[in-house]
Amino acid sequence: MRTRVLLNLTLALTLTAVILFGCEKKEAGAAEKPESKEKKKMSITKESFGQTPDKQTVVLYTLTNPNGIKAKITNYGATLVSLETPDKNGNFADIVLGFDTFDGYLTDHPYFGVIVGRYANRIGKGKFVLEGVEYKLATNNGANHLHGGIKGFDKVVWKVEDVKTTDDTASVKLSYLSKDGEEGYPGNLNCSVKYTLTKDNELKIEYEAQTDKTTIVNLTNHAYWNLAGQGNGDILGHELMLNADKYTPVDEGLIPTGEIKEVKGSPMDFTKLMTIGSRISQVTGGYDHNYVLNSGGGKLALAAKVYEQTTGRVMEIYTTEPGIQFYSGNFLDGSITGKSGKVYKKHYGFCLETQHFPDSPNKPQFPSVVLKPGEKYQTATVLKLSTK
Ligand code: BGC
Repeated sequence: MRTRVLLNLTLALTLTAVILFGCEKKEAGAAEKPESKEKKKMSITKESFGQTPDKQTVVLYTLTNPNGIKAKITNYGATLVSLETPDKNGNFADIVLGFDTFDGYLTDHPYFGVIVGRYANRIGKGKFVLEGVEYKLATNNGANHLHGGIKGFDKVVWKVEDVKTTDDTASVKLSYLSKDGEEGYPGNLNCSVKYTLTKDNELKIEYEAQTDKTTIVNLTNHAYWNLAGQGNGDILGHELMLNADKYTPVDEGLIPTGEIKEVKGSPMDFTKLMTIGSRISQVTGGYDHNYVLNSGGGKLALAAKVYEQTTGRVMEIYTTEPGIQFYSGNFLDGSITGKSGKVYKKHYGFCLETQHFPDSPNKPQFPSVVLKPGEKYQTATVLKLSTK
């Protein structure tokens, strides 16, 4: 009797299992289509990234497009933490230098992936005159002011304004209120940065700002790129084109002299694709210069193109800005260990910072960086990613 009951029970269980297994299989089969359709959508996930020493929570957003491109953005410094893109064989790598964990971003690092402001790049002696008033900024680069000062926009927690996906885009909009007098700047400046990843493999960065007192603004993203993958050697073999016939020569402190010079016939000429390393030894200290874009700014136009032969990765940069800082990672010296334990040595990354020209507040001949109450600062930069 017991054996029979057991036998029946076993049979019943087996049958149930078969039915369930069958159903499961069927369900999985049925779910396959919507699931793969799901994979083709733009998506955003959010996770905790850490906490600042003053206990502010910092989050990390991952924006993914249907082709698998992933951009990670944190609201600390409105930082682009990583950008994973495929090479010509479809192998993905992160092409942005930075850190795996939040702790790294709290260290004194050279602006990996951050948004720099209120004024990106240098202001000579940290001083300028605006409407007859002299303003004295924090000096944090010798005698000069660099990238917003001691506590620039890269070292603050930005407010998350909006996180949105559409059929074609995934975006995160962050905002920051820089108070009147912060780092010496006049006016309460309300600014925002919106990162948008598109289904067409573009990462768009849009900047906006408004002030209640006349001030100066110059915002940019300070990502260090290595199209062979972060940490995978130096960038001297990358080919670069800059859509600029002119640049702004600098003095020993890297402050523009005020001259606007032709690049033609000099190692500064990148009007055609040239490897970064081909003439770098002829440039004292390496490239760290502002190029005057041929577009003149104001409308979205091609500013730069970079090609890395071994992986086939191509990055094109479009911007509404009149200038671009080409920095060849000259000060990286192997003292920083970044993602996946990679050591960032000299020239292991390059920056292409779309911007207004350095020291513009003291150079009336340069395009103006003045923002008045009632005006809207609005700029955009688009990174187009592809392979060849
Ligand atoms: C500047 C470099 C500087 C680097 C890191 C770049 O934008 O042009 O001179 O070393 O940022 O601070």
